[in-house]
Parts: sequence; structure tokens; C-alpha cells
Amino acid sequence: MAEFDSWAAYYDYLHPGLPGEAEFYGGQALRRGGPVLEAGCGTGRLAILMAMSGLKVTGVDNSAAMLAVCREKASHAGVKKKNLVLVEADMRHVNLGAAYPLAIMAYRTFMHCLTVEDQLNCLRCIYNHLVPGGEFFCNLWAAQPARIARYRTRPDFNRRTLADTVYIPSEDIMLIHFVSLWRDDARQLLHERHWVREQGRNGNTLHEEELSMTRAWITPREMEHLAARTGFTTIAVLGDFDGTPWTPKHTEMIWHFRRPG
Ligand SMILES: C[S@@+](CC[C@H](N)C(=O)[O-])C[C@H]1O[C@@H](n2cnc3c(N)ncnc32)[C@H](O)[C@@H]1O
Repeated sequence: MAEFDSWAAYYDYLHPGLPGEAEFYGGQALRRGGPVLEAGCGTGRLAILMAMSGLKVTGVDNSAAMLAVCREKASHAGVKKKNLVLVEADMRHVNLGAAYPLAIMAYRTFMHCLTVEDQLNCLRCIYNHLVPGGEFFCNLWAAQPARIARYRTRPDFNRRTLADTVYIPSEDIMLIHFVSLWRDDARQLLHERHWVREQGRNGNTLHEEELSMTRAWITPREMEHLAARTGFTTIAVLGDFDGTPWTPKHTEMIWHFRRPG
């Protein structure tokens, strides 16, 4: 079972994405005219939008449940089957037998590669799926050391932070989302335990789901080395989807790479 399988039912409610990212990736894809590879496409927040613009998109994800949500949304949105190909596979090892002018890995997805070997395998896999001169955008959380230092170094599930409350009108329920995080400094891993409570109109708990997630934080310097080991040329590192260059004040890094032509 993939880590995100248990997230699929809640993902779109709890992860609305980052401001400006849909316009950014959509604009980059339209400028090139497709086809686009999205690694870790999930429920298709971005892949579906791009496919709705008439671009050919291939989305790879290792969670069957996330892809099932994506398929259903794409069908409701009337996306043509030929415009959105979904592949259930591991983005570190997949071989699609195709090369793309543009690849994206959005919403900090790269952080799910937990070891240097995973990270290199994943970047090499993307590199091998680009045409010479093809470009790759990869968004990562820019982990600020002071922020990381605030997390505990061992789990304490009695201390839960309220992360979100979201009303779902179609089901007339509230989702109450709590999280507890702890860090492993030696491995640069953030371990997360989440609880999503489905609450009825009277405040009664209808269901509660416990979910886990582990992510690696990556410094700008590490990303530079990983990219160089892969063979990518770094074109830019943005701090915002409006094109502002990254500075240590930014909480997102958007790496823009090119496979040398
Ligand atoms: C943070 S979500 C992002 C989903 C989507 N790109 C978005 O912006 O909403 C990360 C996604 O990456 C997928 N993922 C994580 N590790 C993966 C791997 N090794 N191979 C393929 N997909 C993976 C997860 O299943 C999940 O759907």
C-alpha cells in the first residue's frame, strides 16, 4: 500500500495547493505546447487543469487511490482520455519509453524521496524522460533551520496541533485535521502523524482516520549538489510562483532545471 492511499479521500479538501502554482505550471506548459510529464500527480490538481487546456499530460503516481480520484475528477471535467494518461508507478524507477520537453514535480513531492539514493534515482528518472534541452520544474519546501528547530525530536501524540477545519457542503460534515510532528536531524526527516475527524452537524464524531507521512527536508545547497550529480543545468531558483528569485526569506523553492541539449 502506498503512503498516500489513505490520504486520497481527504487530499483535495486539506491540500488546496500554493498560491499561483496552477497558473505558473499551466503557463509553462502552454508556452511549450506539451506534452508534459507530472511526477507525483496525485489527484490531478494540476494535471487535470493542464489537460483541460488541450495539452497532453502524463501523470505518474504510486498511489492507486490518488490516481482513482484523479480519474474520476478528469472524467467529470470532461478531459479527453488521450489528453491525460495516468500511470501507476514509482517515479524513481519508471520507464515510460517517452521523452518530454517539460516535466514538473509540484507541491513538495520530491520531499517524499527520503534518502540520497531515492533522490538521485528520482532526478535521474526525470532526466531520462526529458528530450535534450527539456526543462524540469521542481517545487520544494525551503526548510528554515529556525522552523525545523521548533519541532520535537521524538513523538508525542498527546500534543496535537489543529491544522485545518474544512466544511464539506456535499456531505454536510466538517473535517477537523490535527497533526503531530517530530524530526530526525541525522536523516533530515520529518515524521508526521495526522488525524482527520469527520464531524457531524451536532459536533458528533462520525469517523476518525489516523494517517502517517514522512518527508525529507532538503537545503538549497543539497539540491544544487543533487542536480549537478544528475547532470542538470540549473537555470533559476525561484522563491515564488510570480517569478521572484529565491532568497532565504522564502518558504518555497522552485528549481528550474534543463537537461543539456
Ligand atoms: C504532496 S502530493 C502532491 C500531489 C499533486 N502533485 C498535487 O500537487 O496536489 C505527493 C504525491 O506524490 C506521490 N508519490 C510519493 N512518492 C512517490 C513515488 N516514489 N513515486 C510516485 N509517486 C509518489 C504521492 O502518492 C502523492 O500523490
